[in-house]
Formats: sequence, structure tokens, C-alpha cells
Amino acid sequence: MKEVTVAVVGCGRIAESAHFPALSQLENVRIKYACDLILEKAAKIKEKFSKVEQLITDYKIALSDPEVDAVYVLTPNYVHYTVTMDALRAGKHVFCEKPITVNYSMSREMSDEAEKQNRMLNIGVCNRYHKSVELLEEMNRNGKFGNIYHVYCSFRAFRSIPGLGGSFTDRAQSGGGVLIDWGVHYLDLILYILGGAKLKNLTCDTYCEMAKNMKEYKYRSMWAEDTKNTETGVNDVDDFVTGYIRTDKASISFNGAWAQNVDISDTYVDFLGDKGGARLSYGGKFTFFDGSTLSAETPEYEIPNMYLREDADFINSVLTGEKTRNHIDYVLESARLLDSLYKSAEIRKEIEC
Ligand SMILES: NC(=O)c1ccc[n+]([C@@H]2O[C@H](COP(=O)([O-])OP(=O)(O)OC[C@H]3O[C@@H](n4cnc5c(N)ncnc54)[C@H](O)[C@@H]3O)[C@@H](O)[C@H]2O)c1
Repeated sequence: MKEVTVAVVGCGRIAESAHFPALSQLENVRIKYACDLILEKAAKIKEKFSKVEQLITDYKIALSDPEVDAVYVLTPNYVHYTVTMDALRAGKHVFCEKPITVNYSMSREMSDEAEKQNRMLNIGVCNRYHKSVELLEEMNRNGKFGNIYHVYCSFRAFRSIPGLGGSFTDRAQSGGGVLIDWGVHYLDLILYILGGAKLKNLTCDTYCEMAKNMKEYKYRSMWAEDTKNTETGVNDVDDFVTGYIRTDKASISFNGAWAQNVDISDTYVDFLGDKGGARLSYGGKFTFFDGSTLSAETPEYEIPNMYLREDADFINSVLTGEKTRNHIDYVLESARLLDSLYKSAEIRKEIEC
């Protein structure tokens, strides 16, 4: 079996919780470098994952190493573009976390560069490897829903604004708030299940109400709290979003909140078809409602680790040259969707896509 040598750039939360565990399990992967601007973060990874060979703070060292076949880009959103472009130009294959980057035009450039360099570029829209999403996509392809005419989704939490001082709440670094961070997963999986729906027109509103005065914001817990810096950190991103999208297939309506003054967490997607419908609990299982028998069924199955599956598929595509479902070509429409939603919110008008 041929081995793929990788360098991982960015040793933060997603690296530690998802990709280092997955890459450590894959027998045909050699992890030559763990890279982080903060050496201690890379060192913590090396302590935990014995396959990691070397620690570096400058990713260009890995790019100039001819042994490195592929680079994992697990940095904040605004860094995705530069590291990915540099890696592709150095002849490396790239796996880049979601969202592709902070806007659609730069996402297109990344896609064009991958094409030009004839290298794989996959994006971490991991839900496409979630077993429930796979089953729903298959059921739709096999006509179980009839015509899916509308999809509704909710990704609302009571208190989930990330800590100040990191990239997630700084628009210049993240590209946006709850829409680009959480919405990307929901909207991407919807377009995927619908069979690659193409956008027609849409309208969207975003709000930064809960976070407009972070010093007054009361919370029970905060993720990314290790970056919390209430003195100098900024929050200029959306913490609530609502929108309506028309595609060549179904229409989609949605609400998302990093925080709201309703103490519930609603994270699900409803698919409404003329023969049947389904409610997908985000990250979990789904119930199918049959319109002709009026029965409901929640299928039983194991939910394998989606990160392991997406990493295995990426490594395999590097070896075979075959594009897989997370290849950037198949994810660009999701980036165009996010961009268009933010544009509509900015001008507060419906826009044609
Ligand atoms: N697919 C998912 O489920 C999922 C979940 C969480 C995060 N993410 C995505 O993963 C990315 C990282 O998120 P995170 O939560 O791990 O963030 P994080 O802040 O915990 O980690 C990012 C790391 O990148 C490092 N870094 C920044 N610039 C660098 C550079 N030039 N060279 C080397 N290292 C650099 C930082 O020091 C930090 O350690 C984001 O794009 C986020 O949207 C995806």
C-alpha cells in the first residue's frame, strides 16, 4: 500500500479533536509535520499523537519538503486562502477546513489554482460523510420523498457566542458569524441531499444584537473561551440570521442563532416532500414520515466517525486521482450561497444569484 505523507497546519481545536485522531488511525498516512504559529500548541499535539514526527512554526518548511504529498489547512478562515494557494503552488494536495475561505471570489481562485496545478483540493464539509446525510441523499435519489418542495432548518442556540479575542467573532478573520460558521454545515448538507441544487434568488437578514455589547453579555459557557479577551477582542459578526432561498429544486427557509433570549437549542432540518418528509436531528438520526401510510420510522444504524471517513476519502483521492464528494468543485455552490446571503443582508433586499 502506498503511503501519503502529510503536514498539518494549525493545531487548534478541530485538529486535536478530529483530524489528528483520524490521521493517526489511517495506516497509509505518515504525519511528518505538525505546524502552528504557537509552538506549544504543536508540542501538545505531538505529546498526544505519537505518529507526529516534527514540530514547526513556519508552514513553508513543509511546503519545500519534497516528501510531503498533502497539506491539511486547519487554521482560522482568513488563513485558509494563503496557506492553500501556497501549498497548491508548491505542488501539494490540500485538505482545507470549512468554510472554503472568507468569500466566494477567493474560493473560486482556490478552485482555479487546484485545477491549474492538477492537485486535489477537498473542503471539510464533514456532514456529507455523516451516515444520516448519506441515507437521506440516497432516499431522495430513489424517490422516497417524491418531490421535495421545501426545506426548513433551524440552528439556534441559547448561549453560544465564541470567546472574544479569537478569529470567530472578527469579521475580517472569519468572514462572518453564525451563518458562515454553523450555517455552512446546514446549508451545504441541504444542497447535497437535494442533489446539487442550483441557486436562483434569495433574501437574508443578519443581526448582531446579543453581542453588540459583549461586556454586558451574560452566558453560562462559551466555546473558544481560551481566546477570550474582553478588553481588545472584537465582535462585529452576525449572531442571528434568517433567510429564504429559491433553488432550481426546493425552496429553503432558515433561522440561526449563536445566541437568543429563548432558552432552547433547536438544531434540525425538515425535508418536505409530496410523498414523504423527514426531520434530521443535526449530528444525529432522522425520522421519516410516510405520507401514504401516515407512519413514522426512525431507522437504526451505527453512526461512524465522519471526520475519519472524510480524511480516508481525501487520502484515497490523493492516491487515485479521483475527485470525491468534498472536492472543491462540488462545494463552491455552498460558498456562493453564503456570499449571496451576506450580500442580501447588507443591502436588505432580495438578490438574484
Ligand atoms: N468541520 C468542522 O466540524 C469544524 C469544526 C470546528 C472548526 N472548523 C474549522 O476549522 C478551522 C480551525 O478552527 P479551530 O476551532 O480549530 O480554531 P483554533 O483557533 O482552535 O485553531 C486554529 C489554529 O491555527 C493556528 N494558526 C493560525 N495561523 C497559522 C499559520 N499561519 N500557520 C500555522 N498555524 C496557524 C492558530 O495558532 C491556532 O492554533 C476554522 O476554519 C473552522 O471554521 C471546522
